[in-house]
Amino acid sequence: MPAFQNSPGMRDILPPDSARWRTLNNVFADVVETAGYGQIITPLIEDVGVFTRIGEATDVVTKELYAFEDRGGRHVSLRPELTASVCRAFAQHRPVAPWKVWYSGPNFRQEKAQRGRYRQFDQVGVEVLGVDDANLDVEVIALAWEFYLRLGLSQVTLILNSLGDPEDRARYVEALRKHFEASELTDQSRETLENNPLRVLDSKREFDAPAITSAPQIAEFYSPGASRHFEAVVAGLTRLGIPFDVEPKLVRGLDYYRSTIFEFQGGTLASAQNALGGGGRYDGLVEALGGPATPGIGFALGVDRTLLACNDEGVFAPAPRRLDAFVVDVAGGFEAVSITGELRAAGLAADRGFENRSMKAQMKLANRSGAAFALIVGDDQLATDTVVAKPMQGGGDQQTIARSDLISHLKDELRRLQ
Ligand code: HAM
Repeated sequence: MPAFQNSPGMRDILPPDSARWRTLNNVFADVVETAGYGQIITPLIEDVGVFTRIGEATDVVTKELYAFEDRGGRHVSLRPELTASVCRAFAQHRPVAPWKVWYSGPNFRQEKAQRGRYRQFDQVGVEVLGVDDANLDVEVIALAWEFYLRLGLSQVTLILNSLGDPEDRARYVEALRKHFEASELTDQSRETLENNPLRVLDSKREFDAPAITSAPQIAEFYSPGASRHFEAVVAGLTRLGIPFDVEPKLVRGLDYYRSTIFEFQGGTLASAQNALGGGGRYDGLVEALGGPATPGIGFALGVDRTLLACNDEGVFAPAPRRLDAFVVDVAGGFEAVSITGELRAAGLAADRGFENRSMKAQMKLANRSGAAFALIVGDDQLATDTVVAKPMQGGGDQQTIARSDLISHLKDELRRLQ
């Protein structure tokens, strides 16, 4: 057992698995950049106040922040998500609205680690600031949907709800508080009720079920404007043919949401970890961070859980990039330096053996590398300015090629193999 291992909830993603992560990011970037979103990169560490604006009553803030004092005495935290950082950046830089950005990167929450729930996890997501239009809600949801389709996932369910205007939400929260105070609840839910009555609706405990079933419904509290907005979102998604379920009891874990909220659930994951992604409107968050009143909407999709869902559905298994050539140099090792350099400059993927190992040892490495060709240079080849090209993936005889023809020969052969 080595002296150190990764901390609980933190994982190493090794090659070839890591190639999937990059491909996933590329697919996401392609989907959202085609829709006019630009990438934003924000720091991993922010003033802790940025994140407490997520909501003092959420577990993410009260129990899960990696907050600490830095050497300058500043109270900072690793980010638990990116929406607050994006709003902080908007308030700070005041870009022209509408501002459409996308991001990808790790987040940190001190959760109880289990399959699909980690302390460091990656998200990809988008945020749009400065637009109050139900058609934008439709666009944002449709982008996430398109991304899942591109990965090949077919068992994702979209759950939709609206929390109404801030006043509707406030009246609903009060009605829920009254209802739950008069109901039978578990001790855990009683505690949740103190801080955040909405979150009681999230309880999966059987004892809480009757109180939740008989709870008032948010729709009874919608203002006419909030109703119209939600109806327009429903109509837009229907027009696009995106299937969804309206779930009046959907509340999200973060506190900044108003109006439209949504979640994507995977068909194959255990229910506590089945949220593949989620988002919604958070009109008011930029203001809470010191910026002008600005409507906002976005989503974040959990990369780790999305890949678990891909495994379960048997989709999105991109092959890692294969080597075109592996150079076996038994003439001192310097030829391999120049040949790999030439190949790479020509856009071919090339690796080599080191430490002047024997022909046999280097051929073993070439084999293991999965390269299409071994390029062998010994003293004879050095003297005649040639290279022996040996096909490694079945078929074809080895050939002796003039050094000057090496690149064009290899490119022709690789085209033939495709
Ligand atoms: P969230 O629901 O907290 O929302 O996280 C979004 C997704 O990140 C989850 O659905 C899940 O897939 C993944 N996730 C969250 N926590 C973990 C964890 N501990 N381990 C693995 N995956 C996890 C947000 O973060 C909001 N910022 C989304 C948003 C953007 N709303 C508006 N804009």
